[in-house]
Amino acid sequence: MTDVPQIPGHTVRAIADGDARELQALFDADPDYFVMAHDRPAAADEVEQIRKALPPGKTQADKFLHLIIDARGHIAGLTDVIRGYPEPRTWYLGFLYLAESARGQGLGRRVLHALYPWVRAKGGTALRLGVVEENAHARHLYATEGFALQVIREPDPSVDRARRVLVLQRAL
Ligand SMILES: CC(C)(COP(=O)(O)OP(=O)(O)OC[C@H]1O[C@@H](n2cnc3c(N)ncnc32)[C@H](O)[C@@H]1OP(=O)(O)O)[C@@H](O)C(=O)NCCC(=O)NCCS
Repeated sequence: MTDVPQIPGHTVRAIADGDARELQALFDADPDYFVMAHDRPAAADEVEQIRKALPPGKTQADKFLHLIIDARGHIAGLTDVIRGYPEPRTWYLGFLYLAESARGQGLGRRVLHALYPWVRAKGGTALRLGVVEENAHARHLYATEGFALQVIREPDPSVDRARRVLVLQRAL
């Protein structure tokens, strides 16, 4: 088994130090998403924060932060997947982000379709994620992919949760 999800037409690889500038530029060009999700534009060290982000009890060894590279070699998006959270066989999609220019062309759905067999092959039996209530586009995608509501998390500044978040899960 190859060690990254396979997305036809794109290359997937682990993030590297040299990617920070291009990725940060995508975030900086997209304040609307960050304001919707976090009530603020992207932080100056947003990439670093994403690289470090881990749920309780998890380590970097459990984290798979992958970039999706388009045919021209540009970053089209990223996925941040955590192995075994909150249950050993449940995997957590901590972040799915596509560059604005890569949206609305079916890539988000193809990314999810690539993740399912990849997670399954590593022993995961469910994929879980949180989506901000206002994120209609992402919610439509997840609903049509069979994700179902598990729990609602109210805003909580102490864990950098500015919005109401719907936690969804799908069996693999
Ligand atoms: C959310 C995101 C991953 C979706 O990926 P995408 O490639 O743009 O979505 P797709 O092209 O695969 O479209 C998925 C569905 O959403 C629909 N859609 C497109 N724009 C929409 C909008 N503004 N509102 C609601 N649905 C929308 C599409 O029609 C499609 O549904 P259909 O197949 O039933 O027609 C991507 O837009 C993104 O990265 N957005 C910014 C970051 C983000 O919100 N991440 C999710 C965090 S949980």
